[in-house]
Amino acid sequence: LDNGLMRTPPMGWLAWERFRCDIDCAHDPKNCISENLFMDMADRLSEDGWRELGYVYVNIDDCWSSKQRDDQGRLQADPKRFPGGIHKLARYMHDRGLKLGIYGDMGTHTCGGYPGTTLDKIQLDAQTFADWEVDMFKFDGCYSNASVQEEGYPLMSKALNATGRPIGYSCSWPAYQGGLPPKVNYTQLGQICNLWRNYGDIQDSWSSVLNIADWFFENQDVLGPAAGPGRWNDPDMLIIGDFGLSVDQSRSQMALWAILAAPLFMSNDLRTISGEARSILQNKMVIGINQDPMGVQGRRIVKEKSGIEVFWRPLSGDASALVFFSRRTDMPYRYQTSLSKLNYTTGSYKAFDVFTNSAMVLKDSADFVVSVNPTGVVMWYISAPARLNVRQYFSSDRM
Ligand code: DGJ
Repeated sequence: LDNGLMRTPPMGWLAWERFRCDIDCAHDPKNCISENLFMDMADRLSEDGWRELGYVYVNIDDCWSSKQRDDQGRLQADPKRFPGGIHKLARYMHDRGLKLGIYGDMGTHTCGGYPGTTLDKIQLDAQTFADWEVDMFKFDGCYSNASVQEEGYPLMSKALNATGRPIGYSCSWPAYQGGLPPKVNYTQLGQICNLWRNYGDIQDSWSSVLNIADWFFENQDVLGPAAGPGRWNDPDMLIIGDFGLSVDQSRSQMALWAILAAPLFMSNDLRTISGEARSILQNKMVIGINQDPMGVQGRRIVKEKSGIEVFWRPLSGDASALVFFSRRTDMPYRYQTSLSKLNYTTGSYKAFDVFTNSAMVLKDSADFVVSVNPTGVVMWYISAPARLNVRQYFSSDRM
């Protein structure tokens, strides 16, 4: 969507995967969906080095609202859990250089059973979010059918634009229509949404991450061209820092999401996150690759019988990223290849290992070996091929 927003994939924090629809503030005050939870996360984002790296969105998901609209038909936050209201919460974010995202559903109810946004309520809800100074809106698709969605998602895009407030627009529409053409029109999605969920919900497990990654790379020829500045495929939240992933698997999710030019919304508890998880999520080189201004989505280029897969993403300045991933479950695998075999043109290249912070020089046709851990990755940033210094080459003193 050409609204000037999200020219690189948006980054931040999103409540759903980690905190779901926990509304029991009486018994679980630290984890329930309440303004305190979002303020806690905002404090962590701004005080623990996240904001400076680009993690600026703090996004509310389902179960934030009251069970009823107010007497003027407007959505309203649950008064017990959000006593200050959403507008005040948005101010809290803005005061800290952060942004607030909110959630709604194109249908009669949200997936969690809260008031939905039927077609007749689209304008009113868009205006309500703008009045609250919200910065991003995720539009879920429970309790509606294909024809209502076909009308509603573009209508909401227009309504948000008409408020005059820049509001990033995340559409769950394709996820409810199987994610693939002919049911899904990616050209149209790129025109009306800044990002869109293509596929099912992520869960806190490696099998879920792998299932999602496989789907996105199996369908890369359809999905890749849809992505670009202002319009991104969304494979769903980062679950790094939760309970389901090992350190290697956490690196794998981070690396593959960077190759996919995916939005980076963490869904974890930033108050208690481990140092290991934090250093993966705060890795500047991976973030730099994810945020490359050219905005070209990367792809899988090799699928070996050994279970090794290679992914490649072209980056600005003639650079690129490579990920070597192992599906194996036995032991680190020594994979031998060369840049020529990976379709790189003649020259010598500098490779930086993103997770070990080491650099090496690689000649195009010279074989090298990478050792890839089970369910892990090796990720490289490859800078532009070193050019022959032409002047020196032709200078007379060499002749
Ligand atoms: C389905 C979405 O895909 C999830 O990300 C989350 O928003 C839930 N609905 C909330 O009910």
